[in-house]
Amino acid sequence: MPRPSVDLPVSVDREAATALAVQLGDRLRDAMRGGALSSGERLPSTRALARQLAVSRTVVTEAYQQLYAEGWLEGRHGSGTYVADVAGTVVPAGRPATVPVPAGGPWDGYGHRDGQGMIDLRPGRPWVHDYDRAAWRRAWRAAADLAPASDPDLRGLPRLRAALAEHLRRSRAIPVGPENVMVTRGTGNGLDLVAATLLRPGDRAGVEEPGYRVARNVFAGRGAEVVPCPVDEDGVVVDGLPGDLRVLYTTPAHQYPLGGRLPIPRRERLLAWARRTGAIVVEDDYDAEFRYDVAPLPALHGLDPGRVVLLGSLSKALTPDVGVGWLVARPDLVEAVAVTRDALADRTSGPAQQAVATLLEKGDLDRHLRRTRLEYARRRAAVVDVLGSRVMGDTAGLHVMVELPEDAVAPLVEAARARGVLLDSTTRHYHGPPLRHGLVIGYGSASRAELRRGISVVAELIG
Ligand SMILES: Cc1ncc(COP(=O)(O)O)c(C=O)c1O
Repeated sequence: MPRPSVDLPVSVDREAATALAVQLGDRLRDAMRGGALSSGERLPSTRALARQLAVSRTVVTEAYQQLYAEGWLEGRHGSGTYVADVAGTVVPAGRPATVPVPAGGPWDGYGHRDGQGMIDLRPGRPWVHDYDRAAWRRAWRAAADLAPASDPDLRGLPRLRAALAEHLRRSRAIPVGPENVMVTRGTGNGLDLVAATLLRPGDRAGVEEPGYRVARNVFAGRGAEVVPCPVDEDGVVVDGLPGDLRVLYTTPAHQYPLGGRLPIPRRERLLAWARRTGAIVVEDDYDAEFRYDVAPLPALHGLDPGRVVLLGSLSKALTPDVGVGWLVARPDLVEAVAVTRDALADRTSGPAQQAVATLLEKGDLDRHLRRTRLEYARRRAAVVDVLGSRVMGDTAGLHVMVELPEDAVAPLVEAARARGVLLDSTTRHYHGPPLRHGLVIGYGSASRAELRRGISVVAELIG
């Protein structure tokens, strides 16, 4: 039984210069922050609240949409909108948090628990169902046969560092050896270790705008000032990058979320900028394994190993559940990050590393990548077939972008949700006000049949 909705102690001021949806969003956020609305409470329907406030339903829908995107609200299919299970907002001591970081709870990064029974077309999830069960079992059995280490190397298992270096040389043509590789628990962990090593409170840290909110959260959490750096269809715009950034986070293989691939001349200009200003470039290579009908471009790290820290992960290539990724840097930086890791008592699970090493050494990961590459190529073709020339950023990765008029997006996301399809918009990927509007459609996690159904709903709603 759905619980009754709460009476909301909010009002809006029609005379104010601030848009009504923004005002309403602010009031609701304040109520959640202050405890007037607590987690699990049900909000009124958009229709009821619109009536209470004498505003249009679009105003309420937009405010709810923004709060969903920020992680304050969650939807339960068929039963309404609830205050999400946010234990608090992390505010680094003495300085304001620039981005809300929900702490704790079963978050999926969108403010929703996994949408049971929904077709999930949000980005960020791979297809995890077609893995080779025998290979997976063999890898974990081999890991279980080994005695646990009492004093593990914080840089990672030598065996896995060697296997990863070989994998990166072969699959990404990055000329690295084990001394360049640290095994992390994934990109987020790698980012945090880099931030804790390189950033001091008040340092300026560039993040693509729009860009990966985890990078913004991590940098802000370490006390840095997050500096949004514009991107266009090709990726980060180099001309105009500030000269005082300590680090710049970028996704050159497939800009997240717009989907550009940074052309080689711009890669070179970016590295010249980094050399000139002394900045370290953090290259997130999160979905570089997946590329369609286009030639590979050299990783930034390979072009200038001294200036670039590359972060990779099995989260897209296999599953986020395994909790293994890598950080690639010049050896002295790897050592500096290991010192940070020691100070933070941070480590990657040894048995997980052993299992991943077996998957790499036996060629199981390569086989998995060959299979999933085909699967994703088919899905991407299915999306492009239906949505046609509206699709951007489809040459790589597991998501595409569809640009739409600003006022069309929130109602479309809402209408799709009502029909059982979860969509993501560009809004939450911005640090500042969104400049480009549209959908970011992930084709990783839904089955092919669900994807076809979901995309036809999107096409119908776009009209
Ligand atoms: C831009 C970007 N980088 C990295 C990752 C993977 O992060 P992690 O390895 O921490 O799971 C994702 C996953 O969604 C992503 O979207």
